[in-house]
Amino acid sequence: MKKIAILGSGSGSNMQAIADAIAAGQLAAEIVYVGCDIPGAYIFERAKQIGVEPVLLDCQGYKQKFPKESQAELAAHLKSLGVDLICLAGFMRLVGAPLLEVFPDRILNIHPSLLPAYPGLHAWEQAVDDGAEESGCTVHYVDAGMDTGEIIAQSRVPVLEGDTAKSLHERIQVQERLLYPQVVADVLAKL
Ligand code: GRF
Repeated sequence: MKKIAILGSGSGSNMQAIADAIAAGQLAAEIVYVGCDIPGAYIFERAKQIGVEPVLLDCQGYKQKFPKESQAELAAHLKSLGVDLICLAGFMRLVGAPLLEVFPDRILNIHPSLLPAYPGLHAWEQAVDDGAEESGCTVHYVDAGMDTGEIIAQSRVPVLEGDTAKSLHERIQVQERLLYPQVVADVLAKL
């Protein structure tokens, strides 16, 4: 059975989608680790509900940074657990060399835009402000840049008249929850 680690910062709905796909027999894998950098984020509750004791990541006191030492420690821990794939699911810190070197081509991210358009924060807001006609989500391999790694798959959604940043984000998130588990299954099948 392939082993997945999840890193998140928020509600964990993408992690939930992966867990649901596993429970439904659509994804032959198990989630063995859930780490989060934001105390009290809802992903902690969701992790417990799926039977994984979540870990508060060791980057407290740093605003956006994920300190190298903490990453190295995490990389060694995930290696010792036999993790095959790390899925960033709403994780708001940049991953760097310590994790990338231990898990080359084995870290995925989901981003709420059609990359390379609108990398970074609040991508859905950028799309609305820009008057874009469509947006969507992208699953990509993680490299040292911000949302710059090789694109694996995308889902498109229209930007509708009267859309707010919130309504567009909700439409994108529906697609995220369909796309991410499928891509994880495809990537794991090739490992
Ligand atoms: C998602 O929209 C994801 O694309 C973005 O952050 C959000 C996380 O949502 N990077 P969740 O924590 O998976 O519910």
